[in-house]
Amino acid sequence: MKLLVLNGPNLNLLGLREPDIYGKRSYADLERFLRDCAGEIGAELEVFQSNHEGVLVDKIQAAYGVFDGIVINPAAYTHTSVALLDAVKGVGIPTVEVHLSDPDTREDFRHISYVRLACLKTVKGLGFESYRQALLFLAAYLRERENKA
Ligand code: DQA
Repeated sequence: MKLLVLNGPNLNLLGLREPDIYGKRSYADLERFLRDCAGEIGAELEVFQSNHEGVLVDKIQAAYGVFDGIVINPAAYTHTSVALLDAVKGVGIPTVEVHLSDPDTREDFRHISYVRLACLKTVKGLGFESYRQALLFLAAYLRERENKA
């Protein structure tokens, strides 16, 4: 099972960036955490971060036929990007949305998520653990789908 974790703008600043909201751990810590999750699940994992919307769209398109599932934290693009929504819909790869914080309890402009419309599930507000829950859900979903086929 090959899974792709996609992270959007400013997540590379984890640790430095608003630590009261996003925590004190760095992006490198998140990458290590995700590798441990992949081991736990028994999945192959690629982790990719970009500050650029088009680069994220390209990565989703390139995932077609390569990855079985995607976990995406589009960060600020969550609330603005129809292009990311269309890309996820376009490739039809099972996708789970994650957030470190809970955008639904923050400013009004964070309450809309475009990508959510193409996602199986959203996991939010649990810090790094949001990613773990998303990966566990996705792996279980994919294994069940394979057993039915
Ligand atoms: C975020 C929440 C978004 O509203 C924000 O723009 C981010 C991070 C999160 O993980 O909590 O950059 O996606």
